[in-house]
Amino acid sequence: MSSSCFIITALFLVSMFMKSNSQLDPRFYDSTCPNVFNIVQQVISQALQTDPRIGASLIRLHFHDCFVNGCDGSILLDNTDTIQSEKEALPNNNSARGYDVVDSIKSSLENACPGVVSCADILALAAEISVKLAGGPSWCVPLGRNDSRTANRTGANNNLPGPSENLTTLKSKFSAFNLSTTDLVALSGAHTFGRSQCRNFIDRLYNFSGTGIPDPTLNQSYLETLRQICPQNGNQSVLTNLDPTTPDVFDRNYFSNLQVNRGLLQSDQELFSSNDTEIIDLVNKFSSNQTAFFEIFIQSMIKMGNIPATGSDLEIRLDCKKVNRDSSSESNYVLVSSS
Ligand code: HEM
Ligand SMILES: *[C@@H]1O[C@H](CO)[C@@H](O)[C@H](O)[C@H]1NC(C)=O
Ligand SMILES: *[C@@H]1O[C@H](CO)[C@@H](O)[C@H](O)[C@H]1NC(C)=O
Ligand SMILES: *[C@@H]1O[C@H](CO)[C@@H](O)[C@H](O)[C@H]1NC(C)=O
Ligand SMILES: *[C@@H]1O[C@H](CO)[C@@H](O)[C@H](O)[C@H]1NC(C)=O
Ligand SMILES: *[C@@H]1O[C@H](CO)[C@@H](O)[C@H](O)[C@H]1NC(C)=O
Ligand SMILES: *[C@@H]1O[C@H](CO)[C@@H](O)[C@H](O)[C@H]1NC(C)=O
Ligand SMILES: *[C@@H]1O[C@H](CO)[C@@H](O)[C@H](O)[C@H]1NC(C)=O
Ligand SMILES: *[C@@H]1O[C@H](CO)[C@@H](O)[C@H](O)[C@H]1NC(C)=O
Ligand SMILES: *[C@@H]1O[C@H](CO)[C@@H](O)[C@H](O)[C@H]1NC(C)=O
Ligand SMILES: *[C@@H]1O[C@H](CO)[C@@H](O)[C@H](O)[C@H]1NC(C)=O
Repeated sequence: MSSSCFIITALFLVSMFMKSNSQLDPRFYDSTCPNVFNIVQQVISQALQTDPRIGASLIRLHFHDCFVNGCDGSILLDNTDTIQSEKEALPNNNSARGYDVVDSIKSSLENACPGVVSCADILALAAEISVKLAGGPSWCVPLGRNDSRTANRTGANNNLPGPSENLTTLKSKFSAFNLSTTDLVALSGAHTFGRSQCRNFIDRLYNFSGTGIPDPTLNQSYLETLRQICPQNGNQSVLTNLDPTTPDVFDRNYFSNLQVNRGLLQSDQELFSSNDTEIIDLVNKFSSNQTAFFEIFIQSMIKMGNIPATGSDLEIRLDCKKVNRDSSSESNYVLVSSS
């Protein structure tokens, strides 16, 4: 791995020494799947050639995984008789995407090192690689997560932040995972790439919080642009860039946009417009100093990726969409089919 990886590993070890309950380690697959990093990167690079949005979609999957029962691949499970998928939770349904690319990464990994790499780790690695390939920072991803055998749709509906939520609610949804205000601001910087559907900000354009007028914090010329993309009774699924200046590049422009009232979602603009001086200082710093943004972003991504699985029934899934068949159901199956 690269030399920057070594430096971050050293930082990681220091932070482990200071305080951590984490058993994750960037070298977790060094002997069992030494090529894991290249294999994941190969599939994502390929996908990017036809879908410039895919990196953004993949980091979002990691975020939505970690905020529900910890980083345990639970978002990847399909519905079954006993599983109510997180995929169909409100924040994810017809919105979260990239599942097919995760499946394709998983098949490549099963070819190279069967039964070794967890789906939760695939999401964490895919997030880092996506950021790096979009021009953002790279870091050593702590690895060794296990996959859940359950999903939690209620958890996805309750824990994931919504685009119209106020700063107080956003802060508390992050602090529920011990993520600080600084983490909230830095991680929101992931909205420097990717898209949003009109449904997630249309009230800001016509009738903000039922006031009958547009969101007063929205930049006037940006308001006009957005009204053309999202007409009042138009198709709510139409997409627009979260960062209109450099839509597919991972850079500091998300924060520069906030300074000129060009945050797309209410949850974005509130970081700058809610008169919270701690947050405004961070936005100004990240906007003027991309290095500072990248450094804090790495730390916050590692913190988020360290949210431990809450369940105790864990495994390394062979197919990210479904739990492994356990030995008891296997023998039941044999019994039934031979009778
Ligand atoms: C702070 C609270 C957050 C809220 C309220 C929020 C909300 C949203 C919404 C509503 C969308 C558009 C979804 C759609 O229209 O289908 C979106 C997209 C996205 N979010 Fe967030 N998000 C938040 C934090 C984060 C974090 C922490 C990350 C990652 C570290 C992230 C990464 C992304 C990315 C990359 C996209 C674009 C995905 C794509 O194009 O497929 N978001 N977010
Ligand atoms: C998810 O979206 C699909 C397609 O729009 C819809 O049929 C389904 O009812 C939605 N699921 C839930 C739980 O709302
Ligand atoms: C994953 O599961 C294995 C086997 O049960 C266990 O030894 C390991 O500590 C677990 N890893 C984490 C990060 O919890
Ligand atoms: C699902 O997530 C909610 C958090 O909203 C939590 O209270 C609940 O215990 C979780 N359920 C399971 C079965 O993990
Ligand atoms: C933020 O939203 C919550 C939930 O809707 C609400 O109870 C609270 O009063 C709001 N806080 C502010 C400062 O607007
Ligand atoms: C947050 O920190 C507290 C105190 O250190 C700890 O008890 C709790 O398990 C942590 N929560 C998460 C989700 O890491
Ligand atoms: C704005 O929304 C509120 C409540 O949702 C509604 O009562 C009002 O009629 C709407 N105003 C306009 C101008 O559409
Ligand atoms: C709405 O827009 C989406 C995204 O561009 C498109 O896939 C869909 O076909 C459109 N629906 C209608 C009814 O035009
Ligand atoms: C609106 O955006 C333009 C272009 O970025 C900028 O020059 C102007 O200062 C912004 N207006 C406000 C009120 O932020
Ligand atoms: C923030 O401060 C400005 C200027 O004092 C004021 O106009 C605005 O209403 C305040 N915004 C909020 C959300 O309190
Ligand atoms: C930008 O941030 C980096 C990292 O925190 C710091 O070393 C550097 O001095 C800052 N640059 C300026 C011009 O403030």
